[in-house]
Amino acid sequence: MHSITILGSTGSIGMNTVKVLESHRNNFKVEALVAGSNVQALARQARQLNASLAVISNKSLYNELKAELSGSNIKVEAGSDAVVEAAKLPSDIVMSAIVGAAGLAPTMAALSRGARVALANKECLVCAGSIMTDVAKASGATIIPVDSEHSAIFQVFDFEQPQNVEKIILTASGGPFRNMTFEQMRVATPAQAIAHPNWSMGEKISVDSATMMNKGLEVIEAYHLFPVTPNQIEVVVHPESVVHSFVEYIDGSVLAQLGTPDMCTPISLALAWPGRLPLSHNKLNLAEIGKLTFNKIETDRFPAIDLCYAAMNKGGNTAAILSTANEIAVAAFLQEKIGFLDIVDIVEKTISKIKHSPLTSIEQVISTIKEAEEVALGLV
Ligand SMILES: NC(=O)c1ccc[n+]([C@@H]2O[C@H](COP(=O)([O-])OP(=O)(O)OC[C@H]3O[C@@H](n4cnc5c(N)ncnc54)[C@H](OP(=O)(O)O)[C@@H]3O)[C@@H](O)[C@H]2O)c1
Repeated sequence: MHSITILGSTGSIGMNTVKVLESHRNNFKVEALVAGSNVQALARQARQLNASLAVISNKSLYNELKAELSGSNIKVEAGSDAVVEAAKLPSDIVMSAIVGAAGLAPTMAALSRGARVALANKECLVCAGSIMTDVAKASGATIIPVDSEHSAIFQVFDFEQPQNVEKIILTASGGPFRNMTFEQMRVATPAQAIAHPNWSMGEKISVDSATMMNKGLEVIEAYHLFPVTPNQIEVVVHPESVVHSFVEYIDGSVLAQLGTPDMCTPISLALAWPGRLPLSHNKLNLAEIGKLTFNKIETDRFPAIDLCYAAMNKGGNTAAILSTANEIAVAAFLQEKIGFLDIVDIVEKTISKIKHSPLTSIEQVISTIKEAEEVALGLV
C-alpha cells in the first residue's frame, strides 16, 4: 500500500491518474488531491477515492469546496500556500500534474522531502533544470518521468552504463498542423490547434504540440532527466505515436518502447516502478497497425524546436524565459488575443529582451519567471 498526492487531479493527467488508482484501490491510499478551480470535479474525486485532504488553489472557492464536501471526513484547504503544504505531506508518491510554472513550488516541496515524484509537469523542470535535479539528489527523491517519450527512454536506457548510449531519439507525432503550410498556420484557430490527432490532453500542451514547442520542451526535459549531452538528443517525426521513443547504443543497437497512445501506461509505470500494474485498456495490435512511418523534422515550419535547442545550449535562465513566455503566449492565443504564429515570435522576442544569466537558486528561477511574464504580457 502506497500513499499518493495528486497535484492537478482535475486535469487530463490527473483524471487518468485517478482512473489508474480506481482500478487498483487496494494498492494506494490517497493523501491529498489538488486542483486549480474546478470545485465539482475535485470534490467528486475526493469522495470517490476517500482522500484525506482536498485543496483548491483559488482561495475564493474555499467555501464552495467546503460545502461540496460537507458530511464527509475530508479536510479542505485553499490557496497557493495550501497547495505547497499538500505536497509536503508525507505521501510516498506525488503526481506532479499541475500545468505550467504554477507546479514549480509544490514539485520542489515534494522533491525536498525525498518523495517519489511522478513528473508530468515538464515546464517546472525546463525552468529550474539542475536546481531541481540537485535538490532531488540531495534529499534522495526519485523523479520518474510521466511524459510518454521520457517514460519510454527511462525504460530502455542503460543507467548503469551510460557510456554505451550513442543518442536518445524522441518521437514526435507532428501535432495537428503537421501538414499545414505557414499561411494556413497564420490563420489557425484555437479549436484547430487543440484538436490533436492522437492524444487527448489539456489545452496548453495541445497548443504546444501544434507549434511543436512541446517537443522542444521535451528535448530540454530529456537533457535534465538523462545523462546525455545536448548533441546526443534527436527528434524524429512519427505520426502514428506508437513508438514512444528510442535509445541508440554505440554498437548500432536501437531499443524502443511501444504502446497505444494512452497516458495510463506511463502514469501507472511511474506509480509502480520497478513493478508494473495490470491495465485493461486497448493493447497494441501490430498486425492491425500494419506499418509505422518516420520522417525528418521540418524545423523551418516549426521554429520552436530550434529555439529550444538554442535555449538548452545557452543554459542559465534562457529555458525559464522561453517556457514562461510560451505559457503567456499560449494563453493569449487561446483567448484569441494573438495569432498562432505570434506564439513563437513572442517567445523569441522575450528571450532577446531579458539579460542572460546563470541560474544559481530557486529564488532566481522564480524572479526570472516573473520578469519573463511581464515582458511577454507586454508583447501580447
Ligand atoms: N495531458 C497529457 O497527456 C500530458 C502528457 C505529457 C505531459 N503532460 C504535462 O502534464 C501537465 C498537465 O497537463 P494536462 O494536460 O493534464 O493539463 P490540464 O488538463 O490543463 O490540467 C491542469 C491541472 O492543473 C490544475 N491547475 C492549474 N493551475 C493551477 C494552480 N495554480 N494551482 C493548482 N492547480 C492548478 C488544473 O486545475 P483545474 O482543473 O481546477 O483548473 C488541472 O487539474 C503539463 O505540464 C503537461 O505538459 C501532459
